[in-house]
Amino acid sequence: MLSSQQPGGALEATLLAAVESRLADCPDRELFLLRLHRWWPDLRDGLAPVYPSGVEDLALRLLLLAADAYAGREAELKRLDLIRGLEPDWFQQPAMMGYAAYADRFAGTLAGVADRVDYLRELGVTYLHLMPLLRPREGDSDGGYAVADYRDIRPDLGTVEDLRELARTLRGAGISLVLDLVLNHVAREHPWAQAARAGEASYRAYFHTFADRELPDAYEQALPEVFPDFAPGNFSWDDELRAWVWTTFNDFQWDVNWSNPDVFVEYADILFFLANAGVEVVRLDAIAFLWKRLGTDCQNQAEVHAITQALHALTRIVCPALLFKAEAIVGPADLVHYLGQGPHYGKVSDLAYHNSLMVQTWSMLAAGDARLAAHALGHLPPAPSTTAWISYVRGHDDIGWAIDDGDAAAVGLSGHAHRAFLSDYYCGRFPGGAARGLVFQANPATGDRRISGTSASLAGIEAGDAHGVARVLLAHALAFGWGGIPVIWSGDELAMVNDPHWAAEPGHAGDNRWTHRPRLTEADLARRADPADPAGQVFAGLRALARARARIPHLDASVGSEIPPLADPGVLPVLRRHPLGPLLGLYNVTAGWRPFPWWRLAELGIAEPWDARADTGVKPGEDGNLWLAPYQACWIV
Ligand code: GLC
Repeated sequence: MLSSQQPGGALEATLLAAVESRLADCPDRELFLLRLHRWWPDLRDGLAPVYPSGVEDLALRLLLLAADAYAGREAELKRLDLIRGLEPDWFQQPAMMGYAAYADRFAGTLAGVADRVDYLRELGVTYLHLMPLLRPREGDSDGGYAVADYRDIRPDLGTVEDLRELARTLRGAGISLVLDLVLNHVAREHPWAQAARAGEASYRAYFHTFADRELPDAYEQALPEVFPDFAPGNFSWDDELRAWVWTTFNDFQWDVNWSNPDVFVEYADILFFLANAGVEVVRLDAIAFLWKRLGTDCQNQAEVHAITQALHALTRIVCPALLFKAEAIVGPADLVHYLGQGPHYGKVSDLAYHNSLMVQTWSMLAAGDARLAAHALGHLPPAPSTTAWISYVRGHDDIGWAIDDGDAAAVGLSGHAHRAFLSDYYCGRFPGGAARGLVFQANPATGDRRISGTSASLAGIEAGDAHGVARVLLAHALAFGWGGIPVIWSGDELAMVNDPHWAAEPGHAGDNRWTHRPRLTEADLARRADPADPAGQVFAGLRALARARARIPHLDASVGSEIPPLADPGVLPVLRRHPLGPLLGLYNVTAGWRPFPWWRLAELGIAEPWDARADTGVKPGEDGNLWLAPYQACWIV
C-alpha cells in the first residue's frame, strides 16, 4: 500500500482512501496509484489557481471519475500505455508523418477509412487526424465543430463501435488516431444548452449569459471577430434563454464557461471516453479562447494553461498513451506557451500547430524572399525538448496572415502592407502571380483578408504554372525538415485544386473554406500512378520526403531548429544541432538558381557534405558556391 509520503508530494489521505476504495476490485490498481502520486502535484497546481474555492471537492470528483475510467480501460489500451511509457519520445521520432482528412470526404465512412489504410501506409502515414466526427447539430455545424453529443458518432459515418474498430485497425497498421475535442463551445442543440434554455439554473451556469448589453458591450471593446462575415460580434441573443450568450464563432456555437468546475468535470469525462475508445491524440480545438477576461482579447489567458495542465495530469494517471495537441492559431509570442513555458514547462500540450512556420512558408513563396521568415522563425523561443511541433502547409482552415508588425519592421517591411500583399497575391490579384485562392472573411475594420485554397491552387498548379509542383514540394520539404510531425492535408498529396462547386452543398454556401476540402474518389487516387500528372509528381515527391525523413535521426523533434545568418535573401537556412552532428536544411524559395557559400558548410562543422534528402553527395560550383536549383530543398549532413 502506498503512503501519502511517496515522492511527488502529499496527496491528502482522504482522497487517497476514497480512490483506493473505489478501485478495491481492480486488479491492476497499483499502477493507477503510482501514477496518481506521480502526477498529483501537477493536477493540484493546475486546478488551484482556476478553482480556488473547493479544490478538494473538485479533486475528489475527478479522481473518482479517473478511477472508473482506468478500471474500464481495455487491456490492449493499458498495454499501449505501458509501451508508450517505455518510449516516451515515440511521437518525436522522424518516422512520424501525419495526414488530416474529413472521414466522409476521404473515404465515405469510418469503415471506408479502414479500407484506405494501405493507401495511407503507401504515403508513409503514422498519424491520422480525422476531422470532427462526434455527432454535430443538424444543418450547418461549422464542419462538425458544433457538437450536439460527444458520446455519439455522426450517423452517416458509423457508430461508436465502428470508431473503436477503426482505432484498432489503425493501431495495428502503426497509425495513431487523432480526434478533435471541441472544448470551447457546444452546439446550441447540445443537451446542456437545451437544459439551459429550458430554465435549469445549473446548466445556464455552463454558459456565459448576460441579461443586457452592458457587459457584452464592455467585452466587445477588446474582442476581435473570428467570422466577421457570417457571424459578426461575439454574443448572440437567444429568445428562449432571454439573454445574450457568448458565441465567439457562430451563433449556434455556445462558448462554455470554464470557470464553472462542473464544466471541467464534464470535459474530463469526455476525454476519458475518447481515450478509452482508442483515440491516441486529442486536438484541443480553439483552446486559446477558453478563458474570458474583461479588457483583454480573451485569448491566451494564464488560466488556459493551468486548465490544460490539470487535464493533462488526469490523462497521465488514467491513459498516459494519450497526447494533447493544442490548436492555438495565435501570434508567435503566444504560441510557445501552449507547449509549456515557465511553471507549465513540459506539462501542457505535447504537440502544437506551428502556425507561424506555415504562414512564413507561403509568405516566402509569394515574395521570393526569406528575410522576414528568417527573422520571425529565428526569434521564436525554443519549445520544450519533450514536445513536438505539428508542421503543416495547409489544413482545413483558411490562412490568416499572422505576421507580426515588429518582425516585419525588423526587416524593413510594413506589417500591414505585407499582409495586404499576401492577400492580393494569393487571391490572384497580383500581376503575374499564379495563385488561385479565395478571400475569406474580409474585415474592413482591420483590413484583414484571409485566404482559402488548396496547396496546388495557391502554388500555381491550377493556373498551369511551370513551377507549381516544385513550390508544393518545397513547402512540404520545409515542413518535413523542421523537426516535428509533418501533417499533409487530404488532397494535397494528389495536387487537388480548388473545388469550384464548393457552395453547392447544403450549409456550405457562406463558407468558402469548403473549396479546399475535396472529396477523394478512386479515380483521384489512381492519378498518383501517373508520373506525367502533377498528382503523380506530388505524391511521389511527398512519399520520397517521408521515406528520407524516416532514416535521418537529425530530424528528431527533441532537437530544435535554428536560423543561421542568411547568405542569400532567396535561401532559407535551417540548422539542427543534433548530437550526431549538424543538419543544415537549405530552401531556395525563388524561381531562379541561388548560391550558398561552400565555406559556410565547413564553418558549421559539415566536413563531407551529403544531401540526406536526395541521398547524394554535394559539390561546390567552380566559383566556390553550392548552387540550388529553383525551389530546391536539401538536408545537408
Ligand atoms: C478551430 C477550427 C475551425 C473552427 C473553429 C471553431 O479553429 O479549426 O475550423 O471553425 O475552431 O470550432
